[in-house]
Amino acid sequence: MNDLRFLRERRSVPSRLLGEPGPDPAQLRAMLAEAVRVPDHGKLAPWRFLAIRGDARHALGERLATRALEKDPAASPAAVDKDRKRFSHAPLVLVVVACPSPGHKVPVQEQLLSGGAVCFALLQAAQALGFGAQWLTGWAAYDPAIQRQLGLDDGEQVLGFVHIGTPAEKAPERQRPDPDALLSEWAP
Ligand SMILES: Cc1cc2nc3c(=O)[nH]c(=O)nc-3n(C[C@H](O)[C@H](O)[C@H](O)COP(=O)(O)O)c2cc1C
Repeated sequence: MNDLRFLRERRSVPSRLLGEPGPDPAQLRAMLAEAVRVPDHGKLAPWRFLAIRGDARHALGERLATRALEKDPAASPAAVDKDRKRFSHAPLVLVVVACPSPGHKVPVQEQLLSGGAVCFALLQAAQALGFGAQWLTGWAAYDPAIQRQLGLDDGEQVLGFVHIGTPAEKAPERQRPDPDALLSEWAP
């Protein structure tokens, strides 16, 4: 059971608690190498990554703020400011982009699931290297204007913004589902 300890201790660290230092180039490469080691039906690798660091984080935040006001001119200054700062906490945000092939014999659902596994593997790899991480989406992930600003092609989707950095404090554990309550026996 000791082998499960690492998995048992996995938890997200809220992005607002993530600061410098972020991963250096070798650590980022190592994390990505683990993240792409996921089940992938048809070996399609139907995903890619965008790194958002430094001033690019603030520039994206400004675009979110502008877009938020465009969508709702009555948005409160506090809500707009939250959007402005969304990407300003963690030193690195990796956008995991799904690039599914709709006509392929491997259903799109499986291609997206594989991308979800990439996001989760990134969380694990970040924690294994001593970083904290959180997988977030929020409205921006689904907003066509923001997707265009990120340079996504038609048919591509944001599966997650994975925020990575050094935790300012240990994240509290949250209550987990009871696996026994989720398990039932199929009987013919
Ligand atoms: C696809 C996906 C999107 C998520 N988006 C958000 C989000 O926008 N905001 C948020 O507070 N949590 C979001 N979460 C939840 C966090 O990633 C995380 O699960 C939560 O902070 C609890 O931490 P844990 O990983 O230790 O369970 C999302 C989770 C998933 C799987």
